Amino acid sequence: MANKSAVITVDGKQVEMNVRSGSIGPEVIDIGSLYKNTGTFTYDPGFTSTASCESKITYIDGDEGVLLHRGYPIEQLAEHGDFLEVCYLLLYGELPTAAQKKDFDHRVTMHTMVHEQMSRFFTGFRRDAHPMAVMCGTVGALSAFYHDSTDITDPHQRMVASLRMIAKMPTIAAMAYKYHIGQPFVYPKNDLDYASNFLRMCFAVPCEEYVVNPVLARAMDRIFILHADHEQNASTSTVRLAGSSGANPFACIAAGIACLWGPAHGGANEAALNMLAEIGSVDRIPEYVAKAKDKNDPFRLMGFGHRVYKNYDPRAKIMQKTTHEVLGELGHRDDPLLEVAMELERIALTDEYFIEKKLYPNIDFYSGITLKALGFPTTMFTVLFALARTVGWIAQWNEMIEDPQQRIGRPRQLYTGEPQRDYVPTSKR
Ligand code: SDX
Repeated sequence: MANKSAVITVDGKQVEMNVRSGSIGPEVIDIGSLYKNTGTFTYDPGFTSTASCESKITYIDGDEGVLLHRGYPIEQLAEHGDFLEVCYLLLYGELPTAAQKKDFDHRVTMHTMVHEQMSRFFTGFRRDAHPMAVMCGTVGALSAFYHDSTDITDPHQRMVASLRMIAKMPTIAAMAYKYHIGQPFVYPKNDLDYASNFLRMCFAVPCEEYVVNPVLARAMDRIFILHADHEQNASTSTVRLAGSSGANPFACIAAGIACLWGPAHGGANEAALNMLAEIGSVDRIPEYVAKAKDKNDPFRLMGFGHRVYKNYDPRAKIMQKTTHEVLGELGHRDDPLLEVAMELERIALTDEYFIEKKLYPNIDFYSGITLKALGFPTTMFTVLFALARTVGWIAQWNEMIEDPQQRIGRPRQLYTGEPQRDYVPTSKR
């Protein structure tokens, strides 16, 4: 393809820059030489028009509501695959053969335990500490235990660290939950699949055998698939930026967890459920829709809107189906929160304001109802999001480390502060 270029004129001086095409999606203007040639920066604080990297892992078409992982549509992966198969795909770029999948499952299973001294980290927290605070702290501490997989220049160590993170996040998440509710930790069992193992570590008690409900385990596994990766979202960009300094993978994932916690991002599932509970009944929906539209009111409909999706979030549709399956299995079909959610969705999708601003339900809108039905408190919702997103963060971190163009991320700024001025002695202020 003939080289395309873009020309920008600054103070009468024309500068030509390369336009690069990807395999699908928008082209990019390579502005790397802009400052050198014009002395000016670009300005895009929310990165709404800025590509931070080249990637082959995930592609989103926000207008069409398309989400691909290594080219495979999320609908097909959620329907036919399991979470560890999606982990393999995100990490290695191809779907595994039966033998590769068996080996990968075994390697992950063999890393599910955490160092016994990790349990002492939990006892340092108050029981009512938010599980996300506990997860931030304990995941960051993993680098204190696994010095043999923190040399990021060694591909083998990077892969060991990757498997350790994928394998240990369910164990750490379950420990955070058990500590939160005052119950003893439950060790992983190697004869259970990933989602079943996690449900058992969360809900089993020493007093009786815990039998995993296969319908709920499948739903949990599908929820993990839906949250696995999502291009350069805020928390993934955080992991990449932290990793660009050469920080170890455990510290980078802890940084991603901290960013995900925000209610505008991964904290939205907890906020969305709290919002549905606050609305409480269908007749109060108009009052909250009016608040969401009121420019002077900071209230937003949690679980609605997205920086990229200006159509339905494809994950939300699959999440909605999973919600009905779980509520049906548990006999909560008439859950009042579901009734409020479905009516709120109907109203929002027909309201001029939401149509004009292209605000559709995102993945967080239905996930909270499902997770509540599965037995998790709202404080655990973002922990589960972090558990699932760890594979996306790790895959993107590996891709960043292996990128020959990779340099430390160091944005510039538009300075609007005071020009240089001299120090004034206290007596003269
Ligand atoms: C996730 O990036 C990812 O990929 C994230 C994620 C992932 O998998 O990693 O998909 C996960 O974070 C999903 C999003 C979860 N967050 C929420 O549900 C919180 C509620 N949503 C909003 O906070 C908001 O929609 C964002 C943060 C998701 C997107 O914000 P943008 O792109 O910066 O959009 P914006 O805030 O500029 O809003 C555009 C307009 C504004 O009105 P105007 O100033 O143009 O008049 O739409 C309005 C906003 O006021 N708006 C909303 C709204 N979201 C946007 N109005 C009411 N309710 C909302 N939810």
